[in-house]
Amino acid sequence: MATRDSWVSNLGFVLAAVGSAAGLGNIWRFPWLTAENGGSAFLVMYLLLIIGVGVPGLLAEFVLGRRGKQTPTGALRSLIGSPEGSALGSFNVVTTIVMLSFYSVVGGWILRYTLVSPVGAYFGQPAQYFGQMSYGLQAVGFHLAFLAIIAAIVFFGVSRGIERVSKVMLPAVVVLLIGLAAWTMTQPDTAAGYAFYLGFDGEYLAANFVNILGPAAGQALFTLSLGAGAMLTYASYLEDDASLPRATLVIAISNTVIGVLAGLIVIPLLFSQGIDPGQGGPGALFVALASVFGSLPGGAVVATVFFATVLLAAVTSGISLLETPVATLVDEYGVSRRRATVGVSLLIAVTGGGLALASSVFRFVSGPLVDIMLSVGLFAFLAIAGWILRTEAIEEFSAGAGRLDALATPWVMTVSWVLPVVVLFSLLSTFTSLAGISLGLNGRAVVAITGTIVCRIVVASATGD
Ligand code: PHE
Repeated sequence: MATRDSWVSNLGFVLAAVGSAAGLGNIWRFPWLTAENGGSAFLVMYLLLIIGVGVPGLLAEFVLGRRGKQTPTGALRSLIGSPEGSALGSFNVVTTIVMLSFYSVVGGWILRYTLVSPVGAYFGQPAQYFGQMSYGLQAVGFHLAFLAIIAAIVFFGVSRGIERVSKVMLPAVVVLLIGLAAWTMTQPDTAAGYAFYLGFDGEYLAANFVNILGPAAGQALFTLSLGAGAMLTYASYLEDDASLPRATLVIAISNTVIGVLAGLIVIPLLFSQGIDPGQGGPGALFVALASVFGSLPGGAVVATVFFATVLLAAVTSGISLLETPVATLVDEYGVSRRRATVGVSLLIAVTGGGLALASSVFRFVSGPLVDIMLSVGLFAFLAIAGWILRTEAIEEFSAGAGRLDALATPWVMTVSWVLPVVVLFSLLSTFTSLAGISLGLNGRAVVAITGTIVCRIVVASATGD
């Protein structure tokens, strides 16, 4: 087999991983979820979940990737030492294909908004414009264009394609967001927006704790690219001297800063025009914010810069989603990278095209289905790292970690017992709200704890531990 590609530098890996994490999740999903769930209360909960669940979960995915040195299918098979690993890894590959199918449609919307913002095409009637372009043949066209951009990058491989592009695009995203946030501060009537976003409201949090937990946990997974196997794949190209805990902290902090910055732009701007931010929902960026741009002096310029920034962020996330299935074909079947890129892109052209034509399927896929698939994927990673590998996982965590290796044991305990319960809990929340069943906080907690214990016993008996 030809030697595998790898990152030129550890910094390149970190930038690419932050590029994967920082995307539509931060700029499109995070502000409207925050606005819908009480502003600062959601922000606090989300930050706690990033620290408590996101960081140790991401470490688990990195540990498996670097230890396995393959994409999910091969990595999990060799780590578990049984064919079930291939099945779990294939599930990840399917997840990335499903994710990219919807992601590329939204990426297409962003591409279109970037191109038409200079002439303010949607300024007159933002809602109508979004309604007409979001689904249908034009949406298919822009989805294909977005996909072509990502494919062109993945085509060139890890070091010459992904790493190079991330090194330029990610810093550009940060600089542009800071510029936009500073500009937002100069706008009138934004004080209420900042207060809603940053002023801590303990009463709201206490009263709505149960309702906020589900969406905040889902967002923490989505934004850190957890559970899809994309981060696992990126870590498979790492050398042993990289410190996984340090890289994880840098990635989680940078990604959070990018999300918070996006909120500092979107939420105050909505308030400045008297728009209730909770009303926006998924269309917040394209309708509510678009109408704000339409009514501000210099709005066309700001809108263009804003959507171009979102586009860059979406591209660096999209490439990590495409890399996983492409690298799987390369690693597992010896297909050339170029052929694999073309083949997988053709498949996603069709699946994403279908979603761009069917809005109700799109909503199901981009919401509950993705949440479920990411949670299931992460649960499997946790079980493998914490229950099956355990000492090997500790060893991999510690390699290159320096003094942070002291955290290896507490980490593996968290991964084995705390995180599976939290992930099952959030999975249950998604299921119960889908099925319209009401199961309170205690009910869900009992089911999540019991479920974790049962899974632990099943895994123990299967592996003979
Ligand atoms: N983290 C990305 C975002 O916030 C989405 C993503 C999820 C990318 C899973 C890869 C894997 O937009």
